[in-house]
Amino acid sequence: MCGIVGYKGKNEACDILIEALKRLEYRGYDSAGIALWNEGRIAIERKKGKVDDLKKIVYNNDSFKGKMGLAHTRWATHGTPSERNAHPHKADDVVVVHNGIIENYIELKTKLKDEGHKFLSDTDTEVIPHLITNHLRKGMNFIDAVRATLKELKGSYALGIIKETEKTLIAAKKESPLIVGVGEGEYFIASDVPAIINRTNRFIFLEDNDVAIFKDGTLLLINVDGKEVQRKVHEVYWTEAMAEKGGYKHFMLKEIFEQPRAISDTLIGRIKEEKGLVEFEELKLPDISKMKKIWMIACGTSYHACIIGKHMFEANLRIPVETDIASEFRYRDPILGKNDMLILVSQSGETADTIAAMKEGKKRGAYTLSVCNVLGSTLAREADGVIFTHAGPEIGVASTKAFTTQISVLFMLMLHIGKKLGKMQSDEIRNSIGEIKKIPHKIQTILDMSNVIEELARKYMGFKDFLYLGRGINYPTVQEGALKLKEISYIHAEAYAAGEMKHGPIALIDENLPVVFVSPNDHTYKKTCGNMEEVITRRGRILLFTDDNSHEMASRVDNLFILPKTIYELQPILSVVPLQLLAYYIANFLGTDVDQPRNLAKSVTVE
Ligand code: AGP
Repeated sequence: MCGIVGYKGKNEACDILIEALKRLEYRGYDSAGIALWNEGRIAIERKKGKVDDLKKIVYNNDSFKGKMGLAHTRWATHGTPSERNAHPHKADDVVVVHNGIIENYIELKTKLKDEGHKFLSDTDTEVIPHLITNHLRKGMNFIDAVRATLKELKGSYALGIIKETEKTLIAAKKESPLIVGVGEGEYFIASDVPAIINRTNRFIFLEDNDVAIFKDGTLLLINVDGKEVQRKVHEVYWTEAMAEKGGYKHFMLKEIFEQPRAISDTLIGRIKEEKGLVEFEELKLPDISKMKKIWMIACGTSYHACIIGKHMFEANLRIPVETDIASEFRYRDPILGKNDMLILVSQSGETADTIAAMKEGKKRGAYTLSVCNVLGSTLAREADGVIFTHAGPEIGVASTKAFTTQISVLFMLMLHIGKKLGKMQSDEIRNSIGEIKKIPHKIQTILDMSNVIEELARKYMGFKDFLYLGRGINYPTVQEGALKLKEISYIHAEAYAAGEMKHGPIALIDENLPVVFVSPNDHTYKKTCGNMEEVITRRGRILLFTDDNSHEMASRVDNLFILPKTIYELQPILSVVPLQLLAYYIANFLGTDVDQPRNLAKSVTVE
């Protein structure tokens, strides 16, 4: 998820663009760049690092004058963070900034290279200016060349485009957010309201396939077919602080609600449903036919994703999977070697214990594969292979969209390996792909019921202890739910395998102990009903999360939340969402610092 801004109007653009970019840095901050158009020349500056590094070069620099320009702050998805991969990207005199993922960029790039185009970066974005110049060279005008290019792109884009010989700024949107700010004698484009909320409160929210053309002080809205479209100008009265969170009170809540988009972005370019295939362009697996065992190692939330991965892999690949907490794994002199695969899961890619675990694995000759959300992070760079979650920056300390995208990646990896080992057939893989493609929409149906969870939180916010119970793949789900509650509300919450209740925790049960059950109608269902009976007998209060609206305990529990149905392996992605919301709303009611809870850091880079 990157941030783009553009300006065309009566004022000097440089300061406006830099200031707007600073407000978007929460969307990505590994490199930044700017392009200023001035009397038929475009000056470009790009820097690895934060916007401030760029600002030092262009502020009060006469080379960066002009009343039209573009700027970009990057969250790398293709091509590591570096100056050469920073936007804007240029071909001939066409300059582009982009947020999104061009799914078919490899085939486009190959075709363009065959036609003699030279590329300077590893990004998917760079194909866009080259495609535009291709059409220009064949005689198309600027606008038509852009429209023709948009029709060749698969995937998502929010674009800003300028050309040295044109006093025109063009913007285009498909599946990535892009808004137009309407000022007095000036126009803005931005990925998000916060970028320009201090300049105007009048916005046009572009829709998919919209193309905005800014020329001679006017704005023309067309679609990719050239047909004029009408869009309403909205007035938005947000504070700047609110705007940075997209109108949400906390980044954590915003990121919970971003999960449908985060998972969609993580699937893009990897699932080939018609072929019954899953492919990872960034992955170079060794000969896995000799693989004897898979290890999944991480910390915290990422460790819970590993346990869910274990259930998926063992059920479908019949390969033994061992999971462990990285801080334990690294000190137990683990027995692994060249026929083992060590999967390290980490949102930040900088967790010290997980990095140490990777080094332990490498030392013993194992193949190391990291699942990371941050390109250029240590785990992403130093593991033998890497697969990225495309969740975008996760700012809230409590991990949410990283967790559900990690599960999505592990599920896709399981399909990928299953196909390679001949353990899963194309039609089975095709069905599984069909199921994961429905997940974003199913999450959205849960998010649409967030008010129900908010009421649950209001009812239970005063309790001092919670017990979370689940069986099978639902056990790591409740472990994650309990972690969310304790780390942001500071309430003690303990997760247990439901079958273990009789081996101790049942002594805790009374009317002062809410017990959260995650019990979809799967093979563990009946036994878990027995656990609920034991809780009810001891006057415990039950919050039941299930996909079965005729659950036999439905009338016996204190609170019931019905989840959408999905396959066993993907159920945790749905079950965890109400648990994330329950933790969030309780913490919000209690007034804790939800985004930066006491004693915690977003990335534990020390041991
Ligand atoms: C989860 O909400 C916590 N922030 C924490 O447990 C986190 O998952 C853990 O520190 C691992 O971080 P990583 O995914 O960046 O390696």
